[in-house]
Amino acid sequence: MADIQWILGVEPAQMPIEWREKVRSLFLEETGEVYADASIASLPIPAWEGNLLLVDVNTYPAPTALKGLLWALPFLEDGVRIAAFAICRELQGQAWGSKAWDHLVAACHTVNKQFIQLEVKAANTRAQEFYRRRGLEVEAHLEHYYQSGLGYMMKGPVPEIQRF
Ligand SMILES: CC(C)(COP(=O)(O)OP(=O)(O)OC[C@H]1O[C@@H](n2cnc3c(N)ncnc32)[C@H](O)[C@@H]1OP(=O)(O)O)[C@@H](O)C(=O)NCCC(=O)NCCS
Repeated sequence: MADIQWILGVEPAQMPIEWREKVRSLFLEETGEVYADASIASLPIPAWEGNLLLVDVNTYPAPTALKGLLWALPFLEDGVRIAAFAICRELQGQAWGSKAWDHLVAACHTVNKQFIQLEVKAANTRAQEFYRRRGLEVEAHLEHYYQSGLGYMMKGPVPEIQRF
């Protein structure tokens, strides 16, 4: 039985190349974006609470264990930018993305970040809805960011954490 959990990731350059290859195919399959290994290796994602890998602990550390990732980086003085966020198809819609988002929000509070921003394809309405429900709005249209067409820059304040 699959046993799935989020774990902290290392910097992309420190990942074994077989893992980056799995990241590459995840991006291709779930976002349609084509990346070279060198581009993934040079992404400036630190090892921190905003660098999360979704893994199947039963097959870890084989690269096939990778089921998703959230890669965010500190941005300007008080922001965080999500550079990549993807969950493999068979695990989408099961709250794994929400869990990673909530973890990132908590991390933003810890390091005193005020806003979250990201880029998303205009055609990817499901992801936009996910972000909109979490307080982000389209702030700019990106004409040349994606090869496949229009993109949006979405941005919003880091929400208060609900305490019960
Ligand atoms: C966008 C993405 C990261 C969200 O992660 P996720 O694990 O699928 O999201 P969740 O299950 O936590 O939440 C999905 C939302 O859709 C709803 N949902 C649940 N099951 C669903 C289903 N089968 N189909 C569609 N939506 C569903 C949930 O109720 C939830 O609603 P909420 O926003 O009100 O909480 C993920 O879907 C994904 O990887 N998509 C493809 C890649 C992508 O578009 N990445 C973003 C690039 S900017």
